[in-house]
This record gives sequence, structure tokens and C-alpha cells, in this order.
Amino acid sequence: MGDIAELIYDPRRPATMADPFPAFRRLRQEEPVHWSPVLRGWVLTRYRDVRGALFDPQLSADRITPFMASVSNERRAALRGIERLLTRWAVFVDPPDHTRLRGLMNKAFTPRAVEALAGYVADVVERLIDAVARRGEMDLIADFAYPLPATVIAAMLGAPEPDISRFKDWSDDLAAFVGSAQATVDKYERAARGMAEMDRYFRAIVAARRGEAPRDDVLGGLIAASDERGALSEDELVATAILLLFAGHETTTNLIANGMLALLRHPDQLALLRARPELAESAVEEFLRYDGPAASVTRVARADFNIDDCTITRGDRLFLMLNAANRDPEQFADPERLDIARESNRHIAFGYGPHYCIGAPLARLEARIAFQRLLARLDDIALAEPAPEWSDNLVLRGVKRLRLRFRSA
Ligand code: HEM
Repeated sequence: MGDIAELIYDPRRPATMADPFPAFRRLRQEEPVHWSPVLRGWVLTRYRDVRGALFDPQLSADRITPFMASVSNERRAALRGIERLLTRWAVFVDPPDHTRLRGLMNKAFTPRAVEALAGYVADVVERLIDAVARRGEMDLIADFAYPLPATVIAAMLGAPEPDISRFKDWSDDLAAFVGSAQATVDKYERAARGMAEMDRYFRAIVAARRGEAPRDDVLGGLIAASDERGALSEDELVATAILLLFAGHETTTNLIANGMLALLRHPDQLALLRARPELAESAVEEFLRYDGPAASVTRVARADFNIDDCTITRGDRLFLMLNAANRDPEQFADPERLDIARESNRHIAFGYGPHYCIGAPLARLEARIAFQRLLARLDDIALAEPAPEWSDNLVLRGVKRLRLRFRSA
């Protein structure tokens, strides 16, 4: 594997995970199509290459099938339950199945349904701030940025609110499998356990809902789709509910926490947002660009082809580094600068092309209201821990805790 010190980009090093941007800068300049011996795949860092790859039909989004084919028979048997569900997650499926699943999710997840949630999101935000305002300190993640999106997505899926604490454990188990850079000993077993529990949980909810009058929420939409001439199988229905639950909170949690951390490290931008709360919308776009919560997405080559002088071989994995692309100077003026009033910010933090994030409007809504209300209600916000610890996850970019001190306004 070579000397770690020689590698431009080594996701096994905590320092690289804490601040991958110097390595991204070097890769973009020196080796924009880079073979990573650690990841055993190609790492793409230029905006035009990453965006191009996201809608290139020569690349498959199905990275589960090749992974499952690579593990021992014994482990594969243990992972059967995960395989059954993950191979039905829209995000890992290619057309034509993707087109069908996506169409059904779109039906259940309309912009109107999201807009209608604004009042509810605002209520949850106030409630969470009420609980901490007088305390003068909090862990932004545990006390606010996690429960906000988890409560909202739980409500959309018809899951009782007290259950959200269980979602966290299940999602953490699954996240270790989906994006950890480390070969943790039990990550497969943990993920299998988390998935099995989510599977049981949603099957029970769906069964109970089938016995009731139809409800006009996301789960209701999915159930209706599965009942209409079997447009969605029972496994697909449960897999989609789990995907929405998983994709619907951890990323938004990290958008809020990464954004707050960026603001606290740029006091001029924090002061600007306090003075001009109407900038919250463009500030959220800038947080997504500057240190987005979905750091990378993976694809698998379906054919041999070239990018620059590099020959990509069928079956090779490609790591599309969204956070590197979003700081490409060929696309963004002064890309390393946090500028919450940035104009023409065409970042790809939500992906691009057929798999473009279906939850983008919801994440934007939650983050905008969160920043507006946190800054309106809390003064003198400061980091209580100057160097928060980053997760070792290649996909989900975020800190483990974000301890803050503040005064109630
Ligand atoms: C800031 C928050 C979020 C970020 C940065 C984010 C990022 C992304 C990215 C990059 C993709 C594309 C993956 C790929 O191409 O392989 C994606 C897909 C997806 N996201 Fe999000 N996401 C966020 C929030 C949400 C929320 C709130 C939901 C649901 C409630 C959601 C549901 C999905 C789903 C279902 C897909 C798969 C779409 C498809 O394959 O057609 N996401 N997201």
C-alpha cells in the first residue's frame, strides 16, 4: 500500500478527514483523475469531471452488486437482508428500475408536500431552541441538528416521534457500512443488525397503516403506489421508507452543524447573517458548497473508457468528490472563501442528473429556518471545543459533536 506520507490523499488519516481541502486542491491541480491505492478506485476532483460523471450512462450507480460479489460466501449469507434492501434503494439502482422508483418517490414527495411542512418545521425549531436557550450551552448536533430533521422525516413517514432516538443507532450502524474509510471489525455485522431492525420496524408500520384509512403523507403515497397494480413491491416499499429515513436526517444534521462551524470560524460572515437574516437562503447554498454534508458519491464503470489520459476499466470504482468539485477555481470565483452572499452558486452538493437529491427542497427549508431562528434567539454563540472531531466517513461529512456556548437573546 506504500508509505502513507507519500499519498496525496489518504482518507485513513484523521488530519485528512478533518481538513481534506488541501489534498483536494493538490489533486485537482496535479492529478485530477487519481488512482487511490487506499480506496482501490479512481478519485475525481474537478467540477467538470465530477458533474460529467454524474450523468454519464457509462457509469452505474449500483455499487452494491459488485461489492456483494466480492465478499466471501459466508459473509454474503450474513448480509443477505442488507443486500435485499440496498439493491432496492433508488440511489443504488440504474434505469429502468431507477426511473420507476424515482417516479413513485416523486409522487409521494412533491414540492407542495414540502412547502406545507414549513409551519411544522418552524414549530420543531422553536421547541428545540426553547429546551436549550436558558442552559447557555449545548451540543448543536445532539440537541438540535439531529432531532430537527429526524423529527420531520419521522412525521413524514408516519413514525411516532419517540422512536427517533432508535433511528440514530440504526443509522449509525448503517453509515459505518455505507461510507466508513476504516475497516472496523464489526461494521458489516452492525449494519446487518441496524438494517434488520429498520426492516422489521417499517414492515410493522406499513402493516398497521394498511388496516387504517389512507393518510396523505409520504408513507401514504408510497403505500398507495404499491397497492396500485403492484407498481412498488413490498420490499421496494420498505427499502424506500428506510432510504428516506437514512438519507433524510444525517445529511441535514451535518448541513446545519458544518454551516454553524463555518460561520463561527468566519466571524465577519456570522455578523453579516445576523445583520441580514434574508441572506439565510444564499448562506445555506454557500454552506452546501463550502463544506457539503455529502462529501462524495461512488459509481462503477460499465465499460472501458478514458478520462484525460487515464483508462478506466469496466468494473472500476470512481469516487466523485463533490466537496472537491465545489471548490474548483474553474467554476467558482475565490472558491476557498466562505461568502454567504455568493451569487451564481451552481454547486453540486445535492448531486446532479438522474439521482439528484429528492430531499433537496426539504433540507433547504429546514436549514434556512434553523439558521434564521438560532441566530435570532441566541447571542454570542461560540465554540466550546475549538477543534471538534470529524467522523471518519467518506460519504457523510460531519463532526461528531459541536459544543457551543451562547446567551439567550
Ligand atoms: C443537506 C442535505 C442533503 C444532502 C447534501 C443530500 C445529498 C444527496 C446526494 C449527493 C444525492 C445523490 C447521490 C448519488 O448521486 O449517488 C442524494 C440523493 C438522494 N437523497 Fe439527498 N441529500 C440531503 C438531504 C436529503 C433529504 C432530507 C432526503 C429525504 C427526505 C434525501 C433523500 C435522497 C434520496 C431518496 C436520494 C436518491 C435519489 C435517487 O437516487 O434518485 N436527501 N442526496
